[in-house]
Amino acid sequence: MKLVVLTGAGISAESGLRTFRGNDGLWENEPIEAVATPEGYFKDKKRVKDFYNGLRTGLPKFKPNAAHFALAKLEEELGNDFLLITQNVDDLHERAGSKRVLHMHGYLNQLRCEKNENHIFDFTGEETLETKCPICGAMSRPHIVWFGEIPLFMDQIEYALQNTDEFVYIGTSSVVYPAAGFKQVAKHCGAHVTCLNLEINPNDPATDTNIQGKATEIVPRWCEEFLQKIKK
Ligand code: OAD
Repeated sequence: MKLVVLTGAGISAESGLRTFRGNDGLWENEPIEAVATPEGYFKDKKRVKDFYNGLRTGLPKFKPNAAHFALAKLEEELGNDFLLITQNVDDLHERAGSKRVLHMHGYLNQLRCEKNENHIFDFTGEETLETKCPICGAMSRPHIVWFGEIPLFMDQIEYALQNTDEFVYIGTSSVVYPAAGFKQVAKHCGAHVTCLNLEINPNDPATDTNIQGKATEIVPRWCEEFLQKIKK
């Protein structure tokens, strides 16, 4: 039984990380066009690097929660039948033990080269205007997919969505494409689709099962039930 999971900011909310939308969301306080577009970056690189430096250096004070751990445990049981796609740029899935994770919107603990998008390197400090790509010496930039840029791993994601039995999306407002359209692709290709979120849309035609609640409560329960179902 193959399972593809998509997570969004809501899974990290109870760890204390701010989501993007809604009251006190990140985008309430920072204009998207200034810190999350290539145009904003080329206008003021220092501002953009400082914004992601703040998010990156703040990561250690947040801890993975029961929902992150439940997905890591499920992965241990399912092995290669499991794939986790996350829109999140934090490292909480990794710190919970997840290994098969695709960060489709990038990853705070990496930088990449301004000149060659394949030059990606691990980085945990504060990026400055002088930070360079260790591979070719060109300037670095945050390894973050900005609006107007193409998300990462799309071929692998497309293949997984077309070949999964179950697709579950967790803690995402489902407004940012292409991730918002993954449920339609999976459903169209025959998967059962489940939504786990604080807010649900019971009339969404692409979703078979909606479970409303906090991620730390509903995700561990759902994972447990999924395991029991496939062991039968
Ligand atoms: P959003 O902030 O848009 O949505 C967060 C979702 O999580 C909402 O639907 C909330 O109802 C839900 N939520 C909040 N707390 C929750 C909890 N404790 N348990 C369960 N659900 C909870 O975040 P995303 O959908 O992840 O992209 O945003 C998608 C993309 O938009 C981000 O990756 C980012 C952003 O702009 C880029 O930066 C490219």
